[in-house]
Amino acid sequence: MALPDGFLWGGALAANQAEGAWKEGGRGPAVTDVNTFKPGADPKQYAIHHVNTVESIRAALADPDELTYYPKRRGIDFYHRYPEDLALFAEMGFTVLRVSIAWTRLYPTGEELEPNEEGIAFYLGLFEEMRRLGIEPLVTLAHYDPPLHLALKNNAWVDRGILPLFERFVRTCFERFGHLVTYWLSFNEIDGIIRHPFTSGGIIEEKVPPLANGESGLEQACYTALHHQFVASAAATKLLHEMFPESQMGCMLTMLTTYPNTCHPDDVAATQEKERLLYLCTDVQADGAYPRLALNLLARQGVTIPFEEGDAELLAAHPVDYISFSYYMSMTESVNPDAERTPGNTILGVKNPFLPSSEWGWQIDPVGLRISLIDLYDRYNKPLFIVENGLGMRDEVTPDGRIHDPYRIDYFRAHFEEMIRAVDEGVDLLGYTSWSPIDFISASTSQITKRYGFIHVDMDDLGNGTLERRRKDSFFWYQKVIASNGADL
Ligand code: BG6
Repeated sequence: MALPDGFLWGGALAANQAEGAWKEGGRGPAVTDVNTFKPGADPKQYAIHHVNTVESIRAALADPDELTYYPKRRGIDFYHRYPEDLALFAEMGFTVLRVSIAWTRLYPTGEELEPNEEGIAFYLGLFEEMRRLGIEPLVTLAHYDPPLHLALKNNAWVDRGILPLFERFVRTCFERFGHLVTYWLSFNEIDGIIRHPFTSGGIIEEKVPPLANGESGLEQACYTALHHQFVASAAATKLLHEMFPESQMGCMLTMLTTYPNTCHPDDVAATQEKERLLYLCTDVQADGAYPRLALNLLARQGVTIPFEEGDAELLAAHPVDYISFSYYMSMTESVNPDAERTPGNTILGVKNPFLPSSEWGWQIDPVGLRISLIDLYDRYNKPLFIVENGLGMRDEVTPDGRIHDPYRIDYFRAHFEEMIRAVDEGVDLLGYTSWSPIDFISASTSQITKRYGFIHVDMDDLGNGTLERRRKDSFFWYQKVIASNGADL
């Protein structure tokens, strides 16, 4: 059992959860800046907290408690502290780090004609330092943070007018950072727009017009926005290959691995239907076309895809080079309306009686990672990259300042064993980035106490603390795993 030489090991971050400094360096507001932390909220609250009305967004922007209840605005101050954090990642032996570029650091409203040079300087500094430390940057162009201005103006990704704006941003990224970055990802968890339209797509529900029959137009708006993201992603892939033929563009899927809850054929059929929509995005981005059955399924739900001239050709001609995905948990599907449910990654599913769950209800299933790798590779025959996987837990700091987190080590060890088994079976896997190597703000609940890191950050959910970084036990364990290329677990 061995991983190939050159297998990339590291961790993954997102700008909106790590950087903070939301008003510094000329950055404009992004939709995630109005995501709130709600003290006392049920930790099993799985849905990403979105602010849905224009009025509440305006109120959030004017809120005097701007850093207390909107933790993504302060993040973990990666914006200022990244040299220290990168040094710790290098100490663990990282050969790759996934980060994202905040669109609003380069184009504060999304509509400027020229980029903000302070934003460019920040990312140049970041990527240059990574290169100096021998860490390969893996860069996501859009991770949950469309410009708030575009959301308020035109529901961001619903309006096709966003395409040239995004292309300008992408071109700037390639022109200014392309010499430092080989691996790119277009949209984080592109399928997520259906589950959290505001955070992924800048869609404000009250601004979505109803359908002709008077029903809500939200689902149609989400698929319209998703189609625009597919087109934007294919255009980005085309541009990247023209400018840097050796560089690679990946797509990114939330791997919501789902089993039938029973062997009743109706449960199996319901699971199959769920999978059809799960794989829709990868089918479009890796195979270059919408699958007919998925289109028919959507049509029966009253959804049409707003194809314009040239879209089909663009998608077909510019599929991605590799497929990346997040994997945290699995769920089951049942047609029984009384089946017990449990939260997962921005979704509610049916509980699996064979699996333990975290405090947040996410079911821990290492074998599901192997199943996912084999499913994806069998289906697409393209290289895979695990770009998110990890366990959100509360940690305790002992009086001597140490953090013992055997539960986190157990989680990773079990997942690595299954990952290596899949590679042994023949899956072509480029690398693995844990989520997240350092504690930071949760996407769904805006807590920091849902801790994922090998590195502890001294801060509570209301922003109190020194921000001091401390190595947890899992830090030393991961260091050993990387040094042995997965042989010493
Ligand atoms: C993924 C997202 O879905 O899940 C990340 O890409 C997110 O942004 C991660 O942080 C874990 O979810 P959460 O809600 O626990 O932060």
